Amino acid sequence: MAILPILVTPNPILRRKAGLVSVVDSYIRELLKNLEDTMIAEDGIGLAAPQVGVSKRVLVMDVPANMTVDGEEIEGLDSGQNFYRMVNPEITWASEKISTCQEGCLSVPGQYASVVRPEKVRVRYLNEKGSVCETEFAYLQAACVQHEMDHLDGKLFVDYLSSMKREMLLRKAQRIER
Ligand code: NI
Repeated sequence: MAILPILVTPNPILRRKAGLVSVVDSYIRELLKNLEDTMIAEDGIGLAAPQVGVSKRVLVMDVPANMTVDGEEIEGLDSGQNFYRMVNPEITWASEKISTCQEGCLSVPGQYASVVRPEKVRVRYLNEKGSVCETEFAYLQAACVQHEMDHLDGKLFVDYLSSMKREMLLRKAQRIER
């Protein structure tokens, strides 16, 4: 159990494609636990292994199922499962309907921007026991899981912006770090 330091842009590990996990063993379970502890300590809603310097396809997220991209509760919908631990996640379906979410990232400190993504996605992954799971996510959960999965491919939310806006946000984020 440990709270790990979070890498911030322009650390090159954040831009690397993370490797597939071959076996969900005690090392991966400890990594999941450390990601969970670190996410909670940093007040994040999701965290991917490359953000703590581990280039593996592993992530955690903690978002209620009934929360809109604006952080509002959807009435009549159960909060459902909010905590997910995922190994080797892949998107098996995405809705044509899109939604716009104001995103930020612990690795791009202090910066926020609107990002357009599919409103719903289905994700196949291994859980902490190594079992294959498939879950459909909507609203803020969907935006969050897509954001975290991008980290596994070396992609940051600012990559969805114009090059001018991207460079500006990355420059500002680096200034905060120093
Ligand atoms: Ni992020």
